[in-house]
Amino acid sequence: MTSSFQQMWADLGPIGRDAGSGGYRRFAWTEADRDCRAWFRSEAEARGLTYEVDRNGNQWAWLGDPMAGDAIVTGSHLDSVPDGGAFDGPLGVVSAFAALDELRHRGVEFTKPLAITNFGDEEGARFGLACVGSRLTAGQLTREKAYELKDGDGISLPQAMERAGYDPSAIGRDDERLARIGAYVELHVEQGRALDLTGDAVGIASAIWPHGRWRFDFRGEANHAGTTRLVDRRDPMLPYAETVLAARREAELAGAVATFGKIAVEPNGVNAIPSLVRGWLDSRAPSPDDLDATVTAIEKAAREYADRHGVDLSVVRESFTPVIEFEDALRDELGRLMGGSVPVLGTGAGHDAGILSSVIPTAMLFVRNLTGISHSPAEYAAEDDCVAGVLALADVLEGLACS
Ligand code: GLV
Ligand code: MN
Ligand code: MN
Repeated sequence: MTSSFQQMWADLGPIGRDAGSGGYRRFAWTEADRDCRAWFRSEAEARGLTYEVDRNGNQWAWLGDPMAGDAIVTGSHLDSVPDGGAFDGPLGVVSAFAALDELRHRGVEFTKPLAITNFGDEEGARFGLACVGSRLTAGQLTREKAYELKDGDGISLPQAMERAGYDPSAIGRDDERLARIGAYVELHVEQGRALDLTGDAVGIASAIWPHGRWRFDFRGEANHAGTTRLVDRRDPMLPYAETVLAARREAELAGAVATFGKIAVEPNGVNAIPSLVRGWLDSRAPSPDDLDATVTAIEKAAREYADRHGVDLSVVRESFTPVIEFEDALRDELGRLMGGSVPVLGTGAGHDAGILSSVIPTAMLFVRNLTGISHSPAEYAAEDDCVAGVLALADVLEGLACS
């Protein structure tokens, strides 16, 4: 199993990796995504699994009869944030194949179908909405809304799918597929230091904080940076900057987090006062009330700053995921199958398992991240911990899908 893990990791490693930053740029329906998908398909076929792509562009590799029902599904995603790390997503997919190899090595008998998945566009780096593949499947994103999604170049999601050779016409809620699934278990690299601090290689997820993305458009007036008197300016950069500080302040007050990590400026000239500053707020909190209070306060502050500078502001919520509490029974079952005292931890990161928990039983395993860093090339899990993760996943799958 260790060698199959190493081989898969080595094969996947170069795909979509930027030589300059060392980070991954595996965005939905791009060439890097195509190559990741080709890798998934070849791993499925090399193991004699039944390969298919669902109506929403998610990849599936089946052991046993896909139509038999009560399937145990495991996997994650292969796409990345801009300059993301190697582990966020791919660790779950590689570990799924490696866990199957381990179970075959153990000689277990499967009593239920097992499927390995790669959910498309989990990070939402290209079209702004996270977990598009699982959201469509679960009915949390309608076909109509999905057709409205556009990337930064104005290419729509269906256009991007078509260009990548996929038919977008039947995207949407997939009850027939969901009805075949008994449980979904996603293994993921931890995106913090909790396991490093407890000294455990593997943990189980308890809950995911509610989280969302909001687009703030500050519109002012483009003008000359040298000749326009300060008092005559309608500079949207000023209320934007004040809003970034307000986000930090409000998040601290509420015990939440709030981040402006992406910005677009027009016309984006050194010697021009901007006409538009567009900033994307990502905010998350332990409770829905805390999140609501944080975002409401940030928006209120932003409106005051915008008014003061003669700038127009519009705020649009682009994405939202409510609090997720993973099902107790499945979570306890995982703990039992993993042999007892396994740490249980919550997270502020979003996952396909969180989306799918609205329609099927789901659970998550986390693997220790020694840097505690994620969404960065510095994300890191040691090979021994990855192997511990595969073995834990194999134990769980054996308990759920085998006699
Ligand atoms: C996905 O990793 C997210 O939490 O944004
Ligand atoms: Mn991520
Ligand atoms: Mn992820």
